[in-house]
Amino acid sequence: MLKDKHILLCVSGGIAVYKAVALTSKLTQAGALVKVIMSESAQKFVNPLSFQALSGHDVFTDTFDEKDSSVIAHIDLADWADLVIVAPATANVIGKMANGIADDMLTTTLLATEAPIWVAPAMNVNMYNHSAVKRNLHRLCEDGVKFIEPSEGFLACGYVGKGRLEEPEKIVEHLNDFFQEGKPTPLEGKKVLVTAGPTRESIDPVRYFTNHSTGKMGFSLAKQAAKMGAHVTLITGPTTLDEPQGINIVKVETADEMFHAVMERFHQMDIVVKAAAVADYKPKQTYTHKMKKSNDELVISFERTKDILLELGRNKQHQILVGFAAESEQLETYAMRKLKKKNLDMIVGNNILLEGAGFQGDTNIVEVFTSQGKVRSLPMMNKSRVAEVILQEITTLMMGV
Ligand code: CTP
Repeated sequence: MLKDKHILLCVSGGIAVYKAVALTSKLTQAGALVKVIMSESAQKFVNPLSFQALSGHDVFTDTFDEKDSSVIAHIDLADWADLVIVAPATANVIGKMANGIADDMLTTTLLATEAPIWVAPAMNVNMYNHSAVKRNLHRLCEDGVKFIEPSEGFLACGYVGKGRLEEPEKIVEHLNDFFQEGKPTPLEGKKVLVTAGPTRESIDPVRYFTNHSTGKMGFSLAKQAAKMGAHVTLITGPTTLDEPQGINIVKVETADEMFHAVMERFHQMDIVVKAAAVADYKPKQTYTHKMKKSNDELVISFERTKDILLELGRNKQHQILVGFAAESEQLETYAMRKLKKKNLDMIVGNNILLEGAGFQGDTNIVEVFTSQGKVRSLPMMNKSRVAEVILQEITTLMMGV
């Protein structure tokens, strides 16, 4: 989607400038034409020559340095751009943008352009959380600026937290998706139900029985299905993830609650993806009052919960039914067994013992099976990309290709 697109990259001064160099390279590799403006402080981190070499264009640094006398550089650049991205965007440049200040080449061009503007902030976590910065971000949001949120991790200042410039590959993905909007959406009009997260089975008002699922895989699937045009319902167990926009979210706690929430909606759905790690057992008895300790051994009896997917498989009519199989051995054998037993159209298997796969992390390593056997074996990918591939496979299956 980025082929021949005119991308104006505005680089402001922070340690993340080095990532903007990589971003220039990734954008040009994707076929975009990239021109770069650097603020004065950005040039203290990286020499403009690096951007010049990778973009194949002069780098603009000074409003009064007119390289071509037939045009006014900041107006010419502003008009040339199909999209402007400020990366890294410092607290300072965000403040200037929010207040319409134009005191250098970069901010003057930002005021002059009518192209969509994207901002990828990068700064210290305390700066990012400062009320003044939040106010400015909010104002920019109201002005229609789009954001690529910083990720969490080790910051150059030694802090750990939100403020790290998103990885160049991810930024390219966001811009790619932006240009893709308005293009045919393969799941347009389809109703998709995704389940996510763990379930929580109470023992008493204090204690519960659960598993390591974070809900990331299910949330990524829900977001990706919505991007592909589907009406998405996400039934989720307890997670700490931000609620995605434009998705109907139903929060449940126990396997029983998830069972009812799913069964109620099943007949209206075209596709059901069961990414939730549903507890197979629940305590036989839930105590109303906190259990008091004693010197004896504690024995808790568990009973089986309902297997939601098995029940869906039994009641399946026109729906495409997709399950997950988290295994620690014999992935193919167990995944194929579950596919048949639960009457599924597809099952996504992962070996939870592999580094970079399974619960907690942002990545997964999966294999996709249908009744034909293994159809895809994917390398380690971030969960949003895994979600994209799974949904592409579901689309292929629906079309009967
Ligand atoms: N699943 C479900 N209801 C349950 C248990 C599992 O709907 N009570 C679904 C999961 O959402 C997943 C699939 O079944 O899509 C496989 O889950 P998994 O726990 O791997 O398999 P089980 O069938 O529970 O078998 P086992 O635990 O013996 O591996």
